Amino acid sequence: MKILAISGSLRADSSNSALLRAVAAMQLDGVEIRISQNIGTLPHFNPDYEPDDFPAVTEFRDELGWADLVLISSPEYAHGVPGVLKNALDWVVGTGEFMSKPVAFISPTGRGTYAQASLAETIRVMDARVLNPAGHVISLAHNGITTDQILGDPTLRVKVEEFLAGVMQDTLQNAKLTE
Ligand code: FNR
Repeated sequence: MKILAISGSLRADSSNSALLRAVAAMQLDGVEIRISQNIGTLPHFNPDYEPDDFPAVTEFRDELGWADLVLISSPEYAHGVPGVLKNALDWVVGTGEFMSKPVAFISPTGRGTYAQASLAETIRVMDARVLNPAGHVISLAHNGITTDQILGDPTLRVKVEEFLAGVMQDTLQNAKLTE
């Protein structure tokens, strides 16, 4: 199974990114997890342009096309989706990479429910399958916690493993239902 993880935060010490890196560090047979690197480099979406005019957009589309499952962890800003993440999603509204794609939300806090609901709506309208609209919370002890600290904490590590096993099972189940 190929999994693409997208963080909605550009902060160097982002807790959303740290959590996704912890998920990506899980070594499971037959599972490859990549972190999307480039949403911060995408140009501002403009429907006058073709997605293929920009290498960064092509790369983002290829990452999504590659993935069997997409994981998103995002902050909320002023009760909304971070502009950088919404911008990335706007680039693929017309190109179909999210069609029938399982998408799961994970969060390092229980907050950000407006952004999550808005993201779920945007992704659903692109015909993706949102596996867990309410999101899966793995509460981190403090903002600024590193990936190594998450992986070094036995309780958090088990939670990350359980989350991954659960969404992979849901993805396989979803694939069976759509066969
Ligand atoms: C926030 N934050 C925030 N949180 C929330 O639950 N609802 C909100 O409306 C906002 N608004 C908001 C605006 C601005 C300008 C900032 C900087 C922050 C808190 C924010 O979501 C929180 O800091 C993130 O969870 C941090 O994520 P990263 O960057 O560590 O991944």
